[in-house]
Amino acid sequence: KLEKIWLAIGISMLFVFLGILGVSAFAMGVKPPSEHHHRIDPAKVAETAPFDKLGLYKTGEKEYEAVMTAFTFGYAPDKMEVPVGATIKFVVTSQDVVHGFEIPGTNVNMMIVPGEISQVTHTFTKPGEYLILCNEYCGGAHEYMKTTIIVK
Ligand code: CUA
Repeated sequence: KLEKIWLAIGISMLFVFLGILGVSAFAMGVKPPSEHHHRIDPAKVAETAPFDKLGLYKTGEKEYEAVMTAFTFGYAPDKMEVPVGATIKFVVTSQDVVHGFEIPGTNVNMMIVPGEISQVTHTFTKPGEYLILCNEYCGGAHEYMKTTIIVK
């Protein structure tokens, strides 16, 4: 009797698990894939919107959009400054090879792949100088590839 109950519980757990798996797979499937990775011709980055106008744009109260490119060996625009509490949506592509885009101490960490547009949003709640670092090996001066965001 007890074994049958445990077996029933086990089987129902399995179905619950499969159900969750199915639902999350479905949820991921219906998410528009264009949200994070639009295609772009790496050779025409400078002529392709939004990268024809690089920079930091104010999109709301304490909301910004940083349109940036990564290249061997740096980022454009090079330095940005925002007020404390600013939320920045980074929209980044690569002009040449695969680069990284990491802000240590935050959850910002993405791969910048030529031909793709990568996006991440972060709110800077504390003042300071935040480094953006490349964490994908991209050549001789890889370890010097960085830029700064000043939050004050
Ligand atoms: Cu760019 Cu390493």
